[in-house]
Amino acid sequence: MQTTVPAVMPAIDQTSPFMELCGQRQSCRSFSDQPVSHETLLRVVEAARLAPSACNSQPWRFILVESPEMVERVAPCGQAMGINGFLKDAKAILLILETPAKLMPMAASVLDGQYFAKGDLGGAALAACFAATEQGLGSCVIGLFDRPKIRGLLDLPPEANIAYFIALGYPKNIAVRAKSRKGLDDLLMTV
Ligand SMILES: Cc1cc2nc3c(=O)[nH]c(=O)nc-3n(C[C@H](O)[C@H](O)[C@H](O)COP(=O)(O)O)c2cc1C
Repeated sequence: MQTTVPAVMPAIDQTSPFMELCGQRQSCRSFSDQPVSHETLLRVVEAARLAPSACNSQPWRFILVESPEMVERVAPCGQAMGINGFLKDAKAILLILETPAKLMPMAASVLDGQYFAKGDLGGAALAACFAATEQGLGSCVIGLFDRPKIRGLLDLPPEANIAYFIALGYPKNIAVRAKSRKGLDDLLMTV
């Protein structure tokens, strides 16, 4: 059952900086005009770079869109489905691309080479979002966008596989919303 719970469940120790970060991270869909420094954005990318991946294959590349001119041109690619209008106000957009993963031979002999890549990219995206939150930035992962259009705009080859956009910028509203999540009772089995 889906319940609306406080950002961090009261039964869980909230004093840890990491648990606070988990509660504070939320999708931001309204960005202020405040510019974001290149150094701040690089820390977001660095967190993604340090994420774990199967066989340490690091099946990712990153494109950081930060010049206002390019943000203005890339944003419409994420609005192609008639959603994500807020992207136009993002100060930067981080693109995470899936690249061929080189798994260790034992894993590659039983699994498709890209078997773990989607999960790996999800981890990198989340690390980026946490790094954004930790620096006071808002972030929003975006999975629906016009792939051919963004490839054409950035002159990427047809095989370039963009997995996610991450919208970044300082939030207009810093209030932390209650999270809507399934309850632990429905999710967790302890043995
Ligand atoms: C893979 C992925 C794709 C998403 N795509 C979109 C999107 O296209 N537009 C959007 O507004 N939010 C998008 N989101 C954000 C989710 O809606 C959001 O994470 C979820 O509702 C939980 O809310 P929270 O992030 O504020 O905790 C996406 C999130 C993920 C992980």
